[in-house]
Amino acid sequence: MRHARAPWRQWLPHGLFLALLMVVLVGCDGGNYPQSTLHPKGDFAEKVDALFQTTVGWAAIVFVLVEAALLWAIFKFRGRPDDPEPKQTHGNTIVEIIWTVIPAAVLAFVAVPTVRTIFDTAKTPEATAEGGEPRKVEVIGHQWWWEFRYPELGIVTANELHVPVGRTVDLRMKTMDVLHSFWIPQFAGKRDVFPNRETRIWFTARETGAYPGACAEFCGLQHGRMLFYVMASDPAEFGQWVARRQADSAAAAIRPPAPPTDSLAPAPLAEDPLVAQGRQLFLTKACVGCHSPGSAGAATTMIGPNLGGIATRRMIAAGWLENTDANLAHWIQNPSQFKTGTKMIVGPITDAEAQALVAFLRTRQ
Ligand code: CUA
Repeated sequence: MRHARAPWRQWLPHGLFLALLMVVLVGCDGGNYPQSTLHPKGDFAEKVDALFQTTVGWAAIVFVLVEAALLWAIFKFRGRPDDPEPKQTHGNTIVEIIWTVIPAAVLAFVAVPTVRTIFDTAKTPEATAEGGEPRKVEVIGHQWWWEFRYPELGIVTANELHVPVGRTVDLRMKTMDVLHSFWIPQFAGKRDVFPNRETRIWFTARETGAYPGACAEFCGLQHGRMLFYVMASDPAEFGQWVARRQADSAAAAIRPPAPPTDSLAPAPLAEDPLVAQGRQLFLTKACVGCHSPGSAGAATTMIGPNLGGIATRRMIAAGWLENTDANLAHWIQNPSQFKTGTKMIVGPITDAEAQALVAFLRTRQ
């Protein structure tokens, strides 16, 4: 007859496999942690990370002491087959005082850095020697995309928050519809955004790069596809981006290039007919009813994302699709195929019309 194996022996291979799997998966990212709060790239996230490390340190000490005491007790007072019944007791005032006072003291210790960090991160950011006055940005959540307005610069963009390295950005946030939550794992967050109530968050980027952000509160069917990027660049590069956006007037974008007024001036380069057709379609297919084609002069919030600079963005459809010509054409023709429930409703658009619209949108640099 075969002896039944001890339960731990049955589970051992599974346990070893899981441990191996964890080691392999943890090694996957090759040192790049775009969605990790454990690799902060800004001052706000560093404060939160420092608090986390402190708390984990305390928890580790408590864990080791408690487990050591437990193992010691289990080993020292283990029962043997012929042991007599142990002495029966009920209650022990000294022990109860000890196990109340020690956790209370631990919590009090942890509360000090916690409360300090809460106040630190909740304060209104001040001017710094390095970056000067904080740059104000209005963040507006929509189902399902993000609008970023720069009131001091007179420009608007969508789904890409551009910030200069070294200068604090002071985000004032609200939503047009339901609750969302603004989250950039490597910089700050999360912060809920509400209709008719302003919430704030701030951060200073320390390193250039593209950092993913997301909506972190369920807000409808496409909550999971309400993504964005933070593009942190050095101040000179940020200045160039601002200048491009300020020159990108919504009104000029939908006006065909003017013929030369001076007959002696050299004739301007003829516009690509496909671009001209795309511009016309942008007006007649009602795209312009929901989307502004330029970043400057778009004073009010529109239903759809601002398209100024769409040609240079990494992603379309709020971080869901790579910004390729083919994806853009498919998206224009059938957005709900990619995002069920999207508020972008389009009539029939032929392949040729989609090509023309893409050609026009590619001029929105
Ligand atoms: Cu917006 Cu989830």
